[in-house]
Amino acid sequence: MVKINENLKKIISDNSFIKVMALTNKYKKDSPNKEVISLSIGDVTIPIPEKVVDVMLDTLNKQKYSDTFKGYGSSSGYDFLKKKILENEYGNLNFTLDEIYISNGTKIDCINILELFTNDAKVLISNISYPIYLNGSLVLNKNIYTFPLKEEDNFIPQVPNNHYDIIFLCNPNNPIGNCYNYETLKKWVDYALKENAIIIYDNVYEDFIGGDLPHSIYEIENAKKVAIEFRSFSKSLSFSGIRCSYYILPNEIYPNVNELWKERTINRFNGVNYVTQVGAEAFYLDEVQDIIKGNIGYYLENAKLLRTGLLKNGFKIWGGENSPYIWVKIKENITSWQVFELYLTKLDVVVTPGIIFGNAGDKYFRVSALGKRKDIIKAIERITRYYEKNN
Ligand SMILES: Cc1ncc(COP(=O)(O)O)c(C=O)c1O
Repeated sequence: MVKINENLKKIISDNSFIKVMALTNKYKKDSPNKEVISLSIGDVTIPIPEKVVDVMLDTLNKQKYSDTFKGYGSSSGYDFLKKKILENEYGNLNFTLDEIYISNGTKIDCINILELFTNDAKVLISNISYPIYLNGSLVLNKNIYTFPLKEEDNFIPQVPNNHYDIIFLCNPNNPIGNCYNYETLKKWVDYALKENAIIIYDNVYEDFIGGDLPHSIYEIENAKKVAIEFRSFSKSLSFSGIRCSYYILPNEIYPNVNELWKERTINRFNGVNYVTQVGAEAFYLDEVQDIIKGNIGYYLENAKLLRTGLLKNGFKIWGGENSPYIWVKIKENITSWQVFELYLTKLDVVVTPGIIFGNAGDKYFRVSALGKRKDIIKAIERITRYYEKNN
């Protein structure tokens, strides 16, 4: 009998978003009169700008005429979108069209890229991280090492003393919500240069970064030799349902790396659909950029309200200034599933238990600012009322 991939069993866990949803749905069913507010949302809630939808509809409409119909496109994306991204996001970095790939989601891209490397490569993942890094690596039977993110380091991943080959870094970080500054990011680039290691740099929340902080790892000198950067239109353009992402695989990583990877991509993928790529290109229209700035501003204002509310209630918190996520220390002496249950049943508020991001996160929970303003305000009011009574 055929054998199943046993590695799949390694990712079955009781600490997952599936459980958060199942428990929330059960609670809603059992208490139909309660108004449950979710601060666990990892998805955007503002819809796609109308102009982008109109451009896409127009493009779709043209698919019924033989002279404007498009079949298979390039597996790594259309040049018109690649050029737009390189000009707007990586202006003076001189990447060529061969170094950028248009794809259908960073979630799948950041794991697919592991096919570039041998299975004995030592993969380093922080304990407290976006769960896909670990789960994706487990299914591929990679040689995985983990290290805890610590409160005493403000949850900034510290450069190790030992050798690793591949390092997953997420900036702005999900779930902590914090960001690297130039100095901390340089330490990782220097480590990778010294160790001949590769950084898989997940930068899907780049649009939330403000102030004097690196927007791309390639702002750090020589990062082109060691980093593969991933970005997505999911959060910025509300394309989480449409699906469009991109990544930069610099030629300097390895001789002929893009010849090899292009061949692999042709063999595995027929490209993101044309209509979606035209929609993604419209992201860069001035009128759309104005709307996007407004949307990001709205989420960041939500985050500010959450931060203020949590601080007022005496919580210790991280993030939420350049990211839609806030990492919160549990005040009671209970686990993150217990705090989840406490807030669900006493406040009708859903938070994400920290243990979902690794067992080092069990004293914390994550809240998200991606929801609607009125819900954010109500959730803070409920938390405040609860602690006024119970303090
Ligand atoms: C850190 C991080 N990376 C990647 C993704 C997924 O991005 P995409 O929608 O492009 O697959 C998410 C989505 O929540 C995320 O939080």
